[in-house]
Amino acid sequence: MNLRKAGGNWVEGDRFFDREVEIEALMERVGDGIHTLVTAQRRMGKTSLVRELLRRLRVQGDFATVFVDLEDAVTAADAVVEIAAAARGVRSTWGRMTDWIGQSSSAAVDRIEELGMSELRVKLRARVDAGNWRTKGDAVFASLAESGRPVVLAIDELPILVNRLLQGHDFEMTPERRRDADEFLSWLRKNGQAHGRRIPMIVSGSVGLEPILKRAELSAHANIFAPFDLKPWDEETAIECLGALAGSYDLQLPEEVCRRMCRRLRCCVPQHVQQFFDKFHEYLRRAGRREATPDDVSQVYSQEMLGVRGQIHLEHYESRLRMVLGDEGYSVAIDLLTETAAGGGVLGEQSIAQCGAYLSSLPDRVTVRVADVLHVLEHDGYLARLEDGYRFVSGLVEDWWRGRHSHGFVPFDRRLN
Ligand SMILES: Nc1ncnc2c1ncn2[C@@H]1O[C@H](COP(=O)(O)OP(=O)(O)O)[C@@H](O)[C@H]1O
Ligand SMILES: [Mg+2]
Repeated sequence: MNLRKAGGNWVEGDRFFDREVEIEALMERVGDGIHTLVTAQRRMGKTSLVRELLRRLRVQGDFATVFVDLEDAVTAADAVVEIAAAARGVRSTWGRMTDWIGQSSSAAVDRIEELGMSELRVKLRARVDAGNWRTKGDAVFASLAESGRPVVLAIDELPILVNRLLQGHDFEMTPERRRDADEFLSWLRKNGQAHGRRIPMIVSGSVGLEPILKRAELSAHANIFAPFDLKPWDEETAIECLGALAGSYDLQLPEEVCRRMCRRLRCCVPQHVQQFFDKFHEYLRRAGRREATPDDVSQVYSQEMLGVRGQIHLEHYESRLRMVLGDEGYSVAIDLLTETAAGGGVLGEQSIAQCGAYLSSLPDRVTVRVADVLHVLEHDGYLARLEDGYRFVSGLVEDWWRGRHSHGFVPFDRRLN
């Protein structure tokens, strides 16, 4: 197969590798009218999986598809505008949309097709506000439901919006914010229940919805979605992917090299596999070689993967953590992860207890609970619980973390004395 390198963004078509089992499972769900919540650690390939699924559904022709990205949405009204704008790919929405933006002749229908996406968004935005987003949103769902074919509605980064609704920019969960989130999720749930067969939804995001809703005691809203946990590639799949990439770029990566690469990563997050290949490609090009040896692996890993540019990716991990946990929880998370990385890669019960003792010894009362932070770290794929304590799931993230944070770190036991 000719597998092309990923570039920086989600992938589909000839850049998309594997995930056949997942695609099949999701196809079955949309056929059965089941709503899905795709959860996984960041960079696992959620957006790519959903995009590729929609691409294949379009090719097959039984479904219309709508893809909405809520990454930049701040309010429920923003979300409705995004859904409406994305829904213009489905003809049955045009009539209503034309009314909305205040052009009511049949010529205006053609205009919808011609409008640029941002222009359409601006026009829709002018008509949707805090008072009417629910009615407008209901109308979008109703018009999608009238489409000749059922519509698969994919909503990416929904948890980011929910999180913003809940905590705003200052990470504080006020009763008003909780009410806003509650209203938005109730609205989505109601439409999901009303239109399951006509509009199966696939919601996904790089922040888990579950820990956010749990903290706000709104977990029940997620129950229309059947969870779908997207796993990392297993070693054999990652090795095949590396082999396919090597083949496409005319490189020799012997299986032993690929295996060592995977062992370094420990957890084969697709993006890390791609990044490793990319670094290898550049490295071999500079060295004027086309064939890699097993000894190159440590070299590329420590000099390229753990280099300064790798750390840029780490910043992304950190900002997501902050978003989910708020300021206080975030600093506890940083401490816990650093204690893990600095302490040989394992966070034992004793360290966890010491962390709790340290927090309660602080003059300013810390309200966040260590157990809650650990829950998020586990759920979001940073740490996994093993017999002897928690461990980083990914060798790469562990090494990044150690490189960036362990310098000057004071372990919990020393802080207590
Ligand atoms: N099925 C796949 N085949 C090849 N590369 C993938 C695949 N899924 C993910 N990737 C790699 O991971 C990166 C992130 O994918 P993306 O879908 O944006 O992840 P997420 O939405 O989970 O953050 C892509 O740029 C690509 O390098
Ligand atoms: Mg994504």
